[in-house]
Amino acid sequence: MIPCAESVRFLRTGGEAMSACMKLARAYTGRDRVLMCGYHGWLTTMGSPGVPEAVRSVHTPLPWGDPQPWEDALKADGDHVAALTVAYSYTAGEGAGEFLQQLRELADRYSALLIFDEIVTGFRLSNGGAQGRFSVTPDLATFSKGMANGWPVAAYLGRRDVMETVRTAVVSSTFGGEATALAAARACLAVYRTEDVIGHLDRRGRQLIDGLNERFAKAGAPARVVGLPPCPQLLWEDSPAVNAGELALRFEAEWLKRRVITYGVMYVNYSHTAADIDEILARAGAALEAMRGEGLFG
Ligand SMILES: Cc1ncc(COP(=O)(O)O)c(C=O)c1O
Repeated sequence: MIPCAESVRFLRTGGEAMSACMKLARAYTGRDRVLMCGYHGWLTTMGSPGVPEAVRSVHTPLPWGDPQPWEDALKADGDHVAALTVAYSYTAGEGAGEFLQQLRELADRYSALLIFDEIVTGFRLSNGGAQGRFSVTPDLATFSKGMANGWPVAAYLGRRDVMETVRTAVVSSTFGGEATALAAARACLAVYRTEDVIGHLDRRGRQLIDGLNERFAKAGAPARVVGLPPCPQLLWEDSPAVNAGELALRFEAEWLKRRVITYGVMYVNYSHTAADIDEILARAGAALEAMRGEGLFG
């Protein structure tokens, strides 16, 4: 199901799986630096207190969508770069494939490994994640959230020659081989294989995107939903009265009062029916009316 998965190992959390990939990439290449894009879990979140400078200095955060800063970093210090890591950006939409392909080519040119963080995109953008949807194959990848329908399990996987460095690099965890979540994952994979889960997410997500955008326009709200239907992103802009961050929080609060819980990225799932989405949209409409009534926009 997953194009790069010649070999697979299991852990409990997405962050652990990403850290494992980075360790194997360093062991395989003999290089220290990692160029990173997106959130990969707390273990590799470097821009916060509690991270030694020596550790931070070998992780370079880079932006989504523009290959130039990546190329600049590789030109300057490519001999020390073990891997390029990337998590799909929720605002990207169908154009994401071009950027992922550019990273593939840069990684190859500088003999670094390409690692896809598919913790969200796995079994969501396609059964094989972003690599399946966009036909760009990384060297290593991680999967978790959608893999076992809520049971705690993560996979790190990829090229067999790279995965085999685990024999000396040491990646081990008390519950790494726990079997109940693996059984849940096996059951879920059978559903993904035989039922059109991704098609359902595409249809329900499209209903949500179009319905919300229609309601924002009708209410005069400075907001829009962008991205691919399985993981649409809600974006607010400033209104004359209130800034975008405040509007986003107020909308979440007004929606919550109406018993809809979400945040900026709105994950539809296989259980959502068309009627559920209609209900969510009706409550969004009521939330927007309340906000307009308070003079927040419109
Ligand atoms: C894209 C992405 N990568 C990695 C992680 C980290 O996974 P975990 O919280 O299981 O460590 C998350 C968690 O939200 C995520 O969204």
